[in-house]
Formats: sequence, C-alpha cells, structure tokens
Amino acid sequence: MNVAQYFLNGAANVLSVAMISGFVMSNGQATTTASGPTTTGGMPVASGVGVNAGKAYLTFETIPGFFLQDDPTTNPATFDYTASNFGLIDRSYPTDDDSSSRKTQWQRFNYYVDQLNHGSGHNVQYRLLFIGRHSEGYHNAEESFVGTPAWNCYWAELYGNGTAVWEDPSLTPFGESQAMKAHNYWQQLIETQKITPPDAYYVSPLARCLETANITYAGLPLKSRHPFIPTVKEGFREGISIHTCDRRSSKSWIAANYPDFIIEPSFSETDQLWNGITAETSSAQAYRSKLVLSDVFDNDQSTIISITTHSGEAASLLGVLGHIPFSLVTGAIIPTLIKITTVREKPTPTTTQPWTTQSWCTNGPPVASVSGICTCSGGMLPVAASPIISPR
Ligand SMILES: *[C@@H]1O[C@H](CO)[C@@H](O)[C@H](O)[C@H]1NC(C)=O
Ligand SMILES: *[C@@H]1O[C@H](CO)[C@@H](O)[C@H](O)[C@H]1NC(C)=O
Repeated sequence: MNVAQYFLNGAANVLSVAMISGFVMSNGQATTTASGPTTTGGMPVASGVGVNAGKAYLTFETIPGFFLQDDPTTNPATFDYTASNFGLIDRSYPTDDDSSSRKTQWQRFNYYVDQLNHGSGHNVQYRLLFIGRHSEGYHNAEESFVGTPAWNCYWAELYGNGTAVWEDPSLTPFGESQAMKAHNYWQQLIETQKITPPDAYYVSPLARCLETANITYAGLPLKSRHPFIPTVKEGFREGISIHTCDRRSSKSWIAANYPDFIIEPSFSETDQLWNGITAETSSAQAYRSKLVLSDVFDNDQSTIISITTHSGEAASLLGVLGHIPFSLVTGAIIPTLIKITTVREKPTPTTTQPWTTQSWCTNGPPVASVSGICTCSGGMLPVAASPIISPR
C-alpha cells in the first residue's frame, strides 16, 4: 500500500511528497510506501500508486448497463436519484432464477453483485460505490447570490460576509433538508425495496460532507454488523483552490463534533495542503484520487461502499474509475458498479502537473472572469495575495 500525502510548492515549482512510512494496515502488518517522485524535463512525475508494498497496483473499470447515470443520454442536471430508484435500470440479470419474480430489482441486483464476487477469482473484485455530493453549503448559496465571476475572483477569497461564513462552511437550512431527503429515501428503499445499505462509509474531512453524511445515514435501520461509523479521509476532500471553502478545520474540531467518526491515522491536526496561493491541478487531483481509492480498496474488503464528497472530487473519482462524466447536483447520490483488477507488477510512475498560482481581485467587485482569469475593476491586475481567513 502506498499512502502518500503530497503537496507542491507552486512558487518554486517543486514537487514534494511527504511519505507516511510505517503506516499500519488494518491487519496489523506495517507496510512501506513507494519511492518518491522524480523530475524529468521539468515535469514532476509522481510515484506510481502501488499496493502490497509497491509490488502490485489496482486498475479500475466502471461496468455500464446497470444504472441510468452510465448512459450518455441521461441529463445529470435534471436526474433525480429519488425519482428513479437510484438510477437502477429495470432489467434481468444472469443470476435471476424462479424466485426472482418475488424479489425487488435491488434484491436481485445486490444478489448479482455478490455472485460476481464469488466467481471472480483472486485478482478481480466487484464493488458497488455510492458516491454522494454534499448538500448545499453557505459557499454554494453565496456563489448563486453574487454570481460566479465575483465569487471566484473576490468573495471566495474571504471567509464570509459578516452574516454568513463560508470558510469550511456548514450546510444551509436548504442543504439540511436535501440531506434529510437522502435519509428518508434510504429509509424507504431499505423498507420497501430491501436494498442492501452500504457495508462501509467514507467521508471528506470538510464540514459540509461530515454534516451531509451524518444526516443521511445516522439513525437508518442498518444491520448491527455494518453500523454507520464513517472514516474521515483527507484524500476525499475537494480539489484544493485558494477559496476559503477548501480550507479544512482541525482534526480536534472534527473529533469534538463527530466523536463517533474514525479519523484516518495519517490525518494531520491542521490543514497541511491548503496554502491560499497555489491550487491543485486536475492531474494532481486525479493522482490523489487514485491514491485514496487504492488505499480504501486495498484495506477494506466491503462490497458496498459509500463515499460522501464534493462536485470536483466526485468528478475526479469518476474519471479515475472510468465512468462517463456525470456532474452531481448538490445532495445527489449515484451508485456505480466497478471492477477492480490487481496487477502483480510494480506500478509505473504517474505524471502530474505542478500546482499553479491563483490570483484574485483584492479591490472587490465588480469583476468579470473570462475562462478562469479574473478581470478586476479599475484596470487592477489580479494579485496572488493570501485570502482573508477567519481569525481562529
Ligand atoms: C451574505 O451571504 C449570504 C449567503 O449568500 C447572503 O444571504 C447575505 O445576504 C449576505 N449578506 C450580505 C450583507 O451581503
Ligand atoms: C449527527 O447525527 C446524530 C443523529 O441524528 C445527531 O444526534 C448529532 O447531533 C449529529 N451531529 C452533528 C455534529 O450534527
């Protein structure tokens, strides 16, 4: 297994990878990490994403044909998981038998997935992931309120506006109702469809995800073998920009507010990744997504796994999993069936782009942003200045 926490110093264009060596796997066996990155022709090359002490790696495929969200004709903007049985397509499975007519679609699909795993052999596993985006937070409300250019280039670099706080924001009342809707929908499907709920839960460390997962899953009629005790993992956080909503709270804050949640052992007390000047590139984020997924699948044999994350990180995970692009609206949850193959070779290095400096209009709105570049008022050029973070 390879649990690497990495960050880049954008100003110097140096890729530095902080390895967590001696990490102890759930079976108690200490593992080592893969070697650090090298630089070739100015392009940093991240280490390969390995498992089994760097002797193997995992490949991921999405198996289409079971969910509406795998179908390119489904419109993500209008797709409502609560109006479509989580998108599960009405169809037959090779494992249907005489008793199938008395079973629900979810019972038959859950059985099919179990049987896939029974016959899959040592190097292949099938998993059913429920990937959820957090419900509406104060940062989402503020972006809608001021518009995307003024949000990206000014307001997102402040921690709030005197009324609302959007640094590591909490859910708005509407966001809470979206998560409650998810809770009620799970409850309904457990009772009427006999759906198998997740065996394991993972959550981004940002407050909006902790809150969404808690409202969604706490108090459901779950089997005692699979209680809702999520693991908080840094790797599932949002793509890191200079926006204050991407800055997480401390480990102590999470532990005090969610005492039943497990926080992964390598988790640092304060946020070591958000620096307010440089932003993670999409290739660096995809590398992180591969790391976190490999870590989860290598250490957790659960078939059904819930991940509560963000729009950008969900898109990155879906990309790494070979799913077609599918943008989640706030509060949406989509299941996806994936096939994981263990390749018993050393992983090849992954190339990632270094983090890039982001600039903003410190003189405030009005601002016009054209394809990500801020155009400030009064002819001012955007500056790479530290955002205004909360005094804590
Ligand atoms: C602050 O932001 C919130 C959330 O977008 C908004 O409802 C409120 O009107 C804003 N307040 C001020 C003073 O701009
Ligand atoms: C999490 O959910 C439980 C059960 O509904 C509730 O008692 C608790 O207050 C919630 N925690 C937070 C921090 O919202």
